[in-house]
Amino acid sequence: MSAWLITGGAGFIGANFTARALKHTTARLIVLDALTYAGDLARLDGLLGPRCVFVKGDVRDEVLVHKLFAAHAISHVIHFAAESHVDRSILGPREFIQTNIEGTMVLLEAARSAWHGDCDGKRFLLVSTDEVFGSLGPQDPPFNEETPYRPNSPYSSSKAAADHLARAWHHTYGLPVVISNCSNNYGPWQFPEKLLPLMILNAVEGRPLPVYGDGLQVRDWLHVEDHVSALLLILEHGLLGRTYCIGGHDECPNLEVVFGLCDTVDAVLGQPQGTSRKLIQHVADRPGHDRRYAIDSARIRQELGWIPTQRLSCALPELVRWYVGHKPWCDAVRSGAYRAFYEQQYGPSGTP
Ligand code: NAD
Ligand code: DAU
Repeated sequence: MSAWLITGGAGFIGANFTARALKHTTARLIVLDALTYAGDLARLDGLLGPRCVFVKGDVRDEVLVHKLFAAHAISHVIHFAAESHVDRSILGPREFIQTNIEGTMVLLEAARSAWHGDCDGKRFLLVSTDEVFGSLGPQDPPFNEETPYRPNSPYSSSKAAADHLARAWHHTYGLPVVISNCSNNYGPWQFPEKLLPLMILNAVEGRPLPVYGDGLQVRDWLHVEDHVSALLLILEHGLLGRTYCIGGHDECPNLEVVFGLCDTVDAVLGQPQGTSRKLIQHVADRPGHDRRYAIDSARIRQELGWIPTQRLSCALPELVRWYVGHKPWCDAVRSGAYRAFYEQQYGPSGTP
């Protein structure tokens, strides 16, 4: 019986995808994750079992990846594993180049060798980002599948390189590749270095809320559940060699997002309105900070019938309550204390 290989399935989006795939498909799932600082098995609590197996390992480990293809008759690859945080890529790009580019090449090659040109029932889905398209001006139309690539950060350039590799493996070798380019996700289990969970937790703890520059940068927000539902549709009905842009049509400047979060935290904690807003501090801008992202998702809406179901402004109370309710998990992943337990079970983190 064939199986789906989910790389990065112990990360934020990968784990949400794994939960949905278990519920909405009959596929056998193999989750491959190196458990870097961003990976955590708590996200897969209650999901692992005979139908969903966890393998600790690195996507750059060719021997391991080839073994997995042979042992599990992999028919689908859903490739999430990546270094995903822009600020970290500015501080140290090497890991981004190695995991995001080299790791993708290893998976493409393993799929090519295992599938021998037989694409029947096979899919290689590369989960990519809207950041590959660069930055929009205030009046520019949103990115779509025809937008030229202009990545600006080490992170986005490494993701762009991976997209180009996947496209080339389709063009040259006929590998059954599909690529998705998605906007900013939010939802449960996001690592608290990203804007929303970071600001929620800092506000709850009464710590400063660092807004980069003027805070007028715009992001197009999408609930992770809407993202993973789009990915399942693409796996089922997406055309080979095609890319799909996925976004929430929910553009908002960062400062407005932070205001909304502050007011929601105040309401959830029962403290006077305005308490959390006083914690906002404008700090130095991110080098090369992209000003605006926005996605035109007409293709996936029209061709696959996908629609996003949530809006950030309405989702904030539930989001804040989730992070407040999961504060012990957030504290553990921020401190790295949880790692000792996994290292005992699986060996040193982040190594093959
Ligand atoms: P994340 O940082 O939360 O998770 C990444 C996962 O990959 C972690 O579990 C980590 O342990 C694993 N990993 C890292 N290096 C690895 C390696 N060498 N081998 C095996 N596993 C490794 O990231 P995320 O936010 O869940 O993003 C998942 C994917 O979606 C990434 O490819 C990212 O570029 C893309 N994406 C993210 C967003 C977003 O808003 N977060 C939007 C669009 C696309
Ligand atoms: O657009 C999709 C991308 O969204 C994904 O490909 C990336 O993996 C994901 O990390 C995310 O990238 P961003 O850089 O947009 O997300 P981040 O949460 O880091 O920042 C969102 C915005 O908030 C951005 O304009 C920078 C700003 N920011 C962020 C942090 C962490 C702040 O102003 N202060 C902060 O402390």
